[in-house]
Amino acid sequence: MRTQVGIVGGGPAGLLLSHLLHRQGIDSVIVERRSRAYVEGRIRAGVLEQGTVDLLAETGLGARMAREGLVHGGIEIAIDGARHRIDLAALTGKSVTVYGQTEVTKDLIEARLAAGGTIVYEADEVSVHGFDSDTPSIRWRTADGPQELHCDFIAGCDGFHGVCRPSVPAGRIRTYERVYPFGWLGILSQTEPVSDELIYASHDRGFALASMRSHALSRYYIQCDLDVKLDDWPDERIWDELKTRLGPEAAATIETGPSIEKSVAPLRSFVAEPMRFGRMFLAGDAAHIVPPTGAKGLNLAVADVRVLAEAFAEHFRDGSSAGIDSYSERALKRVWKAQRFSWWFSAQLHRYDGAEPFARRLQLAELDYLTGSEAASHAFAENYVGLPFG
Ligand code: FAD
Ligand code: DHB
Repeated sequence: MRTQVGIVGGGPAGLLLSHLLHRQGIDSVIVERRSRAYVEGRIRAGVLEQGTVDLLAETGLGARMAREGLVHGGIEIAIDGARHRIDLAALTGKSVTVYGQTEVTKDLIEARLAAGGTIVYEADEVSVHGFDSDTPSIRWRTADGPQELHCDFIAGCDGFHGVCRPSVPAGRIRTYERVYPFGWLGILSQTEPVSDELIYASHDRGFALASMRSHALSRYYIQCDLDVKLDDWPDERIWDELKTRLGPEAAATIETGPSIEKSVAPLRSFVAEPMRFGRMFLAGDAAHIVPPTGAKGLNLAVADVRVLAEAFAEHFRDGSSAGIDSYSERALKRVWKAQRFSWWFSAQLHRYDGAEPFARRLQLAELDYLTGSEAASHAFAENYVGLPFG
């Protein structure tokens, strides 16, 4: 098999890259380790920046998102139960859209298959070769035996636990990492969301987040210990904890019901530099992870891929390498700004066991400043809705 861009990973980054390349007349093949059903069912991100929404809409993926996505012009921050609204739209002229990663993924898969795109699912033992030569390739195994895809470039869109980044010789990659001493316990329930907008809560007992997927589907998270056992957290206990952390107003009105999904996610900040190794380019979670608090992960993956698709298009159209040469630097500039914001917001909202009382008072002062100062709210809102593309 031969293609122009061989893409490892069929998550949002790989699928969108393939879609954008197709629109530029560039051929690609996606090699994905999991099944289509698994990829479509993985519940993760929920908040799209306006830049992400605009890109999807401009490239023909906006119809269902426009019908089903929920446009939010603000978010709330609950500080020990007292709620404060940040008016994103008034402060920045922009909004965010609540539209699940599952739905973005389904729309992308449908568009790729309708356009005759190739996605190989359930590829075992995927490996990348020759990215320092002019003849890179991707190899894998299926029930039919070993397969090989020859390509001009490899795009490593295979997430944090993928194979592309670990294939780079250790001396050529530098990584930066911060692991947080807690996780998020998330539930999905067929209940009406407690509020029209998201509520991010900082409470003495820990962080909580009230989010949603639709008017009838709620997504809630609470900060939990890393060694949490789901058996210790029956739904009743989660609802009680949410009521406490979100505060009395939410507790009085929250609709509870059985969870239809329950999972734990660790929190991590991670960056690999550079994001290009010869003819292999990393994009999305393969190159960087942010803690989910700032809702940046999926949006960063989209931003990477936008720059990378432009760079490949320039190369195949004009024979220019300017775009591919500057990809890593351009992408990393945005990545580090999102790292800063996601780290900062996470640090203010979570409970750090064993921290001195002074640290909690500083958090409260930061949050008081954030919600009380127009300048601070403005800076926050600019980051939350997404910085302009550089
Ligand atoms: P992935 O989605 O991880 O896709 C990588 C793909 O590669 C997967 O399909 C995987 O199966 C495949 N793969 C892995 N290894 C191999 C291999 N060896 N060979 C072939 N294929 C392979 N982001 C936001 O922007 N907003 C949010 O609100 C938000 N909330 C989140 C909440 C939670 C609980 C979590 C966990 C994450 C959240 N994120 C959020 C982050 C977001 O989900 C990720 O940043 C996003 O999925 C990144 O997309 P990706 O395509 O780079 O990676
Ligand atoms: C969701 C996840 C986030 O990390 C976030 O900041 C906002 C919303 C969600 O899953 O709905």
